[in-house]
Amino acid sequence: MKSNEVAHHIDVYSIFPDYVHSALQNSLIGKAWQSGLIEIGSHDLRGFAKDLHRTVDDTPYGGGAGMVMMPTIWGEAIDQSVEFSKAKIHDLIIPTPAGELFTQKKAEELSRAEHIIIACGRYEGIDARVSEYYQSQPNFRVHEISIGDYVINGGEAAALVMIEAIVRLIPGVIGNPDSLLEESHTLLDDEEALLEYPSYTKPAIWRGLGVPEILLSGHHGKIAQWRLERSKERTRKVRGLTRE
Ligand code: ADE
Repeated sequence: MKSNEVAHHIDVYSIFPDYVHSALQNSLIGKAWQSGLIEIGSHDLRGFAKDLHRTVDDTPYGGGAGMVMMPTIWGEAIDQSVEFSKAKIHDLIIPTPAGELFTQKKAEELSRAEHIIIACGRYEGIDARVSEYYQSQPNFRVHEISIGDYVINGGEAAALVMIEAIVRLIPGVIGNPDSLLEESHTLLDDEEALLEYPSYTKPAIWRGLGVPEILLSGHHGKIAQWRLERSKERTRKVRGLTRE
């Protein structure tokens, strides 16, 4: 397949492009990449800097600690990504602890995107006008996303988490698509999801611990019912809610 026929394209911009590149190569994502199902570019943001020191950040207006990444640099990077893309709509992801929480539902939405651009910020983040500007562009959807309520040093690890969750949902990436149907967070309806039931394999007794009888019975209907109950129980216990 030629690169211009790839249906899913992800461009990651970062000051640590090698970190992103090597992490992606050593995974299931790397296989999908090699097979031509997706194309992922990991680009050096500093390539857009204008000075000898390749500066990409500056002090914040209004004062305060830390540095803010400059909108000029990000604007050029994102525009270049668009220039090389044939997609009509571009999904711009900005990982930030101040964003909406990343969920399986969001991963499913993004797995249908033709062209995803991920802008990995460092320091105190990216000048807020970058998000504002691209939100105003008709060919852009902007997603400011947090992978959880904690702070990490930059968007790179968050981008990797999101790419893993998104790419495995693209048809053809996972060898056995049935495995997608039976896992935690499989959506039962629009909002509710159940956590996965416990799994067991051989030996039947390990360190004195047996496997639940029902799983050895061969009774598929009863096993399915048992698994659903364990899923609800686990969801209730860990997350404090179920659909009941
Ligand atoms: N950058 C720093 N912390 C983050 C988080 N929790 N999610 C996404 N991006 C981040």
